[in-house]
Parts: sequence; structure tokens; C-alpha cells
Amino acid sequence: MFEDAVRFSLDKIRKNADDFSDSFLSDESHGYVYSRNTECVGWTEGFWPGMLWLAYEFTGDEKFKLTAHELDKLLCRRIYERRGTDTHDLGFLYTLSCVAEYKITGNENAKNVALEAAELLIRRFHEKGQFIQAWGSLEDKANYRLIIDCFMNLPLLFWASEETGDIKYADIAKKHFYTAAGCVIREDFTTYHTYYFDPDTGKKLKGVTKQGYSNDSCWARGQAWGIYGTALAYKYIGDKNIAELFDGITECFFGHLPEDGIPYWDMIFTEGDEPRDTSAAAIAVCGMLEMNRHIKSEKNMDRCIKMMQALKDRYLTDNRSNGILKEGMYSKPDGSKSECNVWGDYFYFEALMRLNVPDWKIYW
Ligand code: GLY
Repeated sequence: MFEDAVRFSLDKIRKNADDFSDSFLSDESHGYVYSRNTECVGWTEGFWPGMLWLAYEFTGDEKFKLTAHELDKLLCRRIYERRGTDTHDLGFLYTLSCVAEYKITGNENAKNVALEAAELLIRRFHEKGQFIQAWGSLEDKANYRLIIDCFMNLPLLFWASEETGDIKYADIAKKHFYTAAGCVIREDFTTYHTYYFDPDTGKKLKGVTKQGYSNDSCWARGQAWGIYGTALAYKYIGDKNIAELFDGITECFFGHLPEDGIPYWDMIFTEGDEPRDTSAAAIAVCGMLEMNRHIKSEKNMDRCIKMMQALKDRYLTDNRSNGILKEGMYSKPDGSKSECNVWGDYFYFEALMRLNVPDWKIYW
């Protein structure tokens, strides 16, 4: 399916594997060309090896495997050195690098590093409030909050319990999931980006945006994290209430799309000249395809195909860019512009994998 899009993406990844064999793609491209990221302290470094693992699975070409392995070694070093590990994004980082490597090659070192990342992640769980703190020091009261994106960090914990037989990781993942679902998902199935708790009592305080338009609007990528996050939670927990949340969030997402079917950066906008966020579309497609493995929905399958078609027809880059999808949006309130971003490219390519290899063994 979408054979030309697969070829197009693989060509970009093959070229990038030469240019970025010892560095990551910059968090965001500041336009449509990625520069080198050698620091490895952000939240996005897992996406590039993740894309390379997918490319290896698509083609069997050893070059992709070797490059992904070298990059994973840089992420291993980050764990050994405890550099930039003060974050919930350990799930994003290590699921698509070390967990993927372990699942594909059986590399024990990659497995052990990913387990260490899971161990660090559960230390961010607050009994008071029953949630995993997103950012910053655990002592910092101003950071006593969770964010919707964290749904995507939970598979690392479910995987760690499956690997070790120790339920402590999955227990925390479940507790966090239900706390987050109970506060970031509003009655009408729009979502808050972040949610604060009282550090002294654990009481729920208020929803606040960081990357959306306003506290009571609905940041498009947050809504997409909600779609994929509930699909993955359903895979691991199997609670039918989670399937209902998935349905609500998904219907809401599709109820707020502009005419061409690709969301603006915040779902408060449904027409006009606001920038899009193509990465939100790619994430939503992966989430619907995941849910479709558990509960079949022709309607959602059809939506996936239409969205992928729209991305292919209007939102792929040209030869001047080393990225794949254009018109992603990192954080408009922080001054980001339309760009390629590495997670948008990753999820687009994952969606292509899911469509072409329906029993693909997911990294999440
Ligand atoms: N997880 C950060 C973002 O979606 O921008």
C-alpha cells in the first residue's frame, strides 16, 4: 500500500543514514532541512533509530541495522551517564531504540538499558496524585503535573513487566493511565495538554496548556497522543472503558478537521490560514491502526487510508529537503514555524509499515 510513499521515505532515510550515521536529526528542522544533533539530551532522539529499525524491517538492508545500533549505543551511554534522564520521555526515547533493537535482534545489552530506563521512569511516580511527573526535578512543586503525551511512555513499563515478570512497572503504568485519563480527557472528549496537582495533598487542580492555543482549547498533537495512547492502553489493559475513551477522542478529532482532512496545530481552528500539524495526523493514523488490531472498525480504517492519501498528495517534501512530511508544528506558542519534525516522519513511516505488514511486531 502507498508503495510510492514507502519508496520516497526509504530514499530519504537511506540518504540520511549516510549523513546522520553518528548523530541524531535535530529535534525540529527549523524549516525543512534537518541539522545534526550530537547532544542527545532531548525527548526526540529515539525517533531516528526507530525509523532506521523500520527501514531495516522493510528492506533487510544491514546498513540500516548497523546505523541504528550505533545510535542506540549513544542512547545507552546517556543512561549510563544519567544525562537528560530527569524526564518522563524515557519511554519515547528507549522504546523506539533499545526495545526495538532487542525485539528485532535479541541484543541483551539493549534490553538491559531499556529496563534501566524503565526503572528511572517509575521513580517519577508520585503516590500523592498517582501520576508520573512529566518534566523537571521531582522536588520542584511548580512541576507537579502530568501531560497527555505521557500515554506514549507507558508501553516501556508494560514491556518491562512482561520481560522481568515484575508487575511493579505495569502497576505504575496503569495507575498513571487512569489518573491521566480522569483529568486530561474532558466531558466532550477534547483534551487538556497538561494537568496540575496539589503537591501537598495530591488533589487535582487544573488543566493548562503548554503547546496549544489556550487552556481550554484542544492542542491537535495532544488529541493525537490521546488516540494512540488509549489504543496502546487498551492493548495492555484490555478494559472496555478504555475502548470507549478511544472512540470518544477519535470522533472528536475527526469532528474538528478542516476540509482537507489534516488538522491545524490546535483544533480550535477548523478553517483559515493557521499552520497545520501533519505529525498529529500521522500519530492519529498509527493509533487507529493499533486499535483496529483489537477491535475492527471499517470506518476508522477508511479514515486512515484517506488521511494517508491526503498526507501523500499534499504534505510530502520535495528534493530540497531531507525530511519526509512537511508542515509539522512543534510549539507555536514558543515561536515554532511550519517544519519537518522527526516524530512526524517516524509516525508517517510507522503508519506505512502498519498498512503494509498488518502483523508487524510493534515496538511500543
Ligand atoms: N511530546 C512533546 C510533543 O509532542 O511536542
